[in-house]
Amino acid sequence: MLYIIRPIEETDEPFLSEILYQALYIPPGASPLPRDIILRPELAKYIQDWGRKDDIGFIAALKPSQILVGAAWLRLFTSNNPGYGYIDDNTPELSIAVLPKYRAQGIGTKLLTELLCQARSSYSAVSLSVLLDNPALRLYRRFGFEVFEQHDNSLTMIKDLERVAS
Ligand SMILES: CC(C)(COP(=O)(O)OP(=O)(O)OC[C@H]1O[C@@H](n2cnc3c(N)ncnc32)[C@H](O)[C@@H]1OP(=O)(O)O)[C@@H](O)C(=O)NCCC(=O)NCCS
Repeated sequence: MLYIIRPIEETDEPFLSEILYQALYIPPGASPLPRDIILRPELAKYIQDWGRKDDIGFIAALKPSQILVGAAWLRLFTSNNPGYGYIDDNTPELSIAVLPKYRAQGIGTKLLTELLCQARSSYSAVSLSVLLDNPALRLYRRFGFEVFEQHDNSLTMIKDLERVAS
């Protein structure tokens, strides 16, 4: 499968909505979440007004069709309006998903590689929130994310971007 990784543009916001929905982990056998769940303020804020000066993100697009298949991005939150994986005001939080039929073919790895490489010039660390039973946890560990804290069935993880070995 041929695809390119390119920066997210403001016009990609509808696709980011789809990816935000896809990023909500549903355990096998559980019912799908309602589509409008991403309109809730605590989720909508992950993509609203994409293109703020501190936002960094990449999209995977198939070649030559340009069909968009995945995205990964970083956004800063604040202590008075934190994200699920909030650590501090200087550590952006990662969101990532690939459309179901394109998963487990290396696209997420490529997106994350590009994103973390770019993030190094702006940030010293990146955080995320993941449910304990989400297989994505293996991907995050491979990239060097470490557990920062646990809340019930979810982990907040951090990746130190200043450490040489990744
Ligand atoms: C997590 C995700 C972005 C990875 O992208 P990908 O293109 O599938 O990943 P790659 O092929 O590069 O790497 C494979 C790894 O992705 C993860 N993965 C693969 N399929 C997955 C799935 N259906 N759900 C969650 N994670 C998955 C696993 O960690 C896998 O590692 P493993 O081979 O050791 O099991 C993608 O699978 C996805 O969108 N999953 C559902 C949404 C999600 O869970 N997002 C993260 C929320 S914290």
